[in-house]
Order: sequence, then structure tokens, then C-alpha cells
Amino acid sequence: MVQTLTNESNPHGGTLVNQIDESQKAREEAESLQKLTISDWSVSDLELIGIGGFSPLTGFMKEQDYTRVVEEMRLKTGEIWSIPITLPVSEKEAKRFDLGEKIALQGEDGIIYGTLIVEEKYTYDKENEAEKVYGTKEEAHPGVKKVYDKGNVYLGGPITLINRPNHGEFSDFYLDPAETRQLFADLGWKTVVGFQTRNPVHRAHEHIQKTALEAVDGLLLNPLVGETKSDDIPADVRMESYQAILNNYYVEGRVRLVIYPAAMRYAGPREAILHATVRKNYGCTHFIVGRDHAGVGDYYGTYDAQRLIETVEDELGIAIFKFEHAFYCTVCENMASAKTCPHDKENHVHLSGTKVRELLRNGERPPKEFSRPEVADVLIKGMKQD
Ligand code: ADX
Repeated sequence: MVQTLTNESNPHGGTLVNQIDESQKAREEAESLQKLTISDWSVSDLELIGIGGFSPLTGFMKEQDYTRVVEEMRLKTGEIWSIPITLPVSEKEAKRFDLGEKIALQGEDGIIYGTLIVEEKYTYDKENEAEKVYGTKEEAHPGVKKVYDKGNVYLGGPITLINRPNHGEFSDFYLDPAETRQLFADLGWKTVVGFQTRNPVHRAHEHIQKTALEAVDGLLLNPLVGETKSDDIPADVRMESYQAILNNYYVEGRVRLVIYPAAMRYAGPREAILHATVRKNYGCTHFIVGRDHAGVGDYYGTYDAQRLIETVEDELGIAIFKFEHAFYCTVCENMASAKTCPHDKENHVHLSGTKVRELLRNGERPPKEFSRPEVADVLIKGMKQD
């Protein structure tokens, strides 16, 4: 029996979705169906729907949900939902399937991960999706490029997850939302802050996590390990770096490291809302949104994500910890932000991602005010193996 913590931690839409059937019968039936090969991205969406990470979704979005999500950030039933979760196929592929037909969804590795009842096939306006969800039509935006590159038809309908993807070396850090909820209950954590990241944990991240930890019982460090863009640090290196910082700088009983097996959209403000919604489903009562959450390049303002999430926070059912841009101040000799540090900018340690990568590639540690040496060493080693 899965326990819920407080009202705030109830799953989005009220019920934790479970669309999993890993029985032999389900697998045998799937073998007999027409097969559709789907991308790794879609496999990760399938998994998150199946395990309830995307509750209340029980399948890939049909047109009414899709349109309302794109236009109004809501499902047709009215709940807040910020990013379309859709299954794209080419027009040619769409023709292979009849409406109402159950089909098998197989990954590029040939493994059947699930089934879909094709209740709808619909075309959509890619530029409109780009503009509304990502705030730009520019193909240079990695999320927008994905929209432009994918098939012109969406298949909508309920799914069943019949095989969970193998998370390989991350398997020890895999828990589904029912399991994290149970874990928090077992640990006696009544309040839990979720932290999304696609980067190694640097001092600024550590600072905001620990500031939040002063107010809640536990931290779910929940790094995204699905598809990211090629210049982001690979998930295996990051996972090692998280363990290095947790082992050296965190109180063991106050943190759990669990992977978030989703693909990164880089949709900034809209993705911050998705990230918070999913962490609510994992049982978090709080979620951190700092500077330029889920941003890329200069597409979003530093606090756009905070501003957008504020407009839906009352309905979202998870409390948002909003943090100013954090940095180390050499005069304060502390991590700080514009809210707490009166000193001039030249006293603040700032490093661009490009500069950090350059240092690491040359085998040099970034300053300890920026990154813990244990983390830097893991990253240097990881860069060498690239
Ligand atoms: S991302 O998934 O949001 O793209 P990233 O690792 O860059 O990942 O950030 C993780 C979280 O930390 C986000 O909420 C982000 O806003 C916040 N964050 C990152 N750097 C800082 C910083 N220097 N000050 C405050 N918040 C930050």
C-alpha cells in the first residue's frame, strides 16, 4: 500500500497512475501485434506515463489535451499541464494503423516496451507548438529543432508499459514514484524538496539545496538522465560526481539520489512547471526553481521560469522554492545572492559553462569556490574518457 504524505504531495490529478503490465501474457500478446519503432525519447515518455511520473496522463495525448496544453497549459479536464506528451510518427507510418487498433511500441533496440491503443491520429502545427511551448520558432533552439525534425502525425491513446527500460549502471538509483513515496514514508520525511538538474552539482546548486534543506526534512536529488544535448556533461559522469559530493558534503540521512529518466526539452519556464509536476508525483512537497531553470542559450530571462510557475503555483499542489542567482562572494567568504550580499560584482566568482569545460578539459580544477574538488576530479576524469 502506497502511503501519501500530506495533501500537498497527492499525485497530480489525485491518483498515481499505474499503467504497468509486465506479465508474460502481456508480452506474448504484444509480440502478435503490429509494431511501431519509437525513439529513445518516446520510450522514456512511455516509461514515465506507465510508472505514473506523468500522472494523470494514461497515454500519449489526444488532440483535445494536446491543443489545450499548447494553448492554455491545461489538460482538457482542467489540470495544469505545461508540455505536450505526444507520440510522433510519419504520415506513411500513421497509415499502417487503424483507429482502435492495439499496437506494440518497440525501441530502436528491437525490445517491445509497451502497447498503445491508437484512438486518434492527428496533424499539428509545428511552428505554433514551438512558439507556445518553447517561446521561439528558431531552429537553433534544441527543443524546437526536435519538434521540426519529428513526424507530422501524432498518435494518441492509452498505453501499457510491459517492459521497463534497462537503466544499466543507474539501476541502483532507479525508483518509480510509488517507490519514492514509500521511501519518504519509511524515512519519516513529511516534507521533501525535489531538485532537477542536468549538470554536475556545483557550489551554487549545493547552496540552494542546503538552504532548502534547512526548511524541509529531506532532499530528492533527481538528475535527469534521459536524452540531453551533446555538449551537456554525460549522465554517467554526472552520476559519479553526485555520489562524490553526497559522500563528502551532505548528511546521509537527509538526501536520496534517484534518477529522473526523462528527456530534456530545454523549454525553460514551461519545463520548470513539468519538472515540478513530475516531482509532485514522485512525492515531493517542494521543488526548487533557481536561475534560468531548464534554459538554453539566451532564450529565456533569468527569472522567467519563476514568474511563469508563480501564475499556477496555487493550483499545482507543490510548493516552489525560488532562488536568486547564487554565487560565492570573496568578501562575504560565503555563498550568497543579490538578496544577501552587498558587495560589488567583481567580488563574485562567476564562471561560464564554456570556461568550466575548458578548465576541465585541460585537467584543471575550477576554483573551489565554484566546484568542490571531489566533483572537479570526477569531471576531469570523465572529460578525458570522452
Ligand atoms: S536544469 O535542469 O534546470 O537545466 P541546472 O543544473 O542548470 O539544470 O539547474 C538545476 C537547478 O538549479 C535549476 O532550478 C536552476 O534554476 C538552479 N540553478 C543553477 N545554477 C544556479 C545558480 N547559480 N543560482 C541559483 N540557481 C541556480
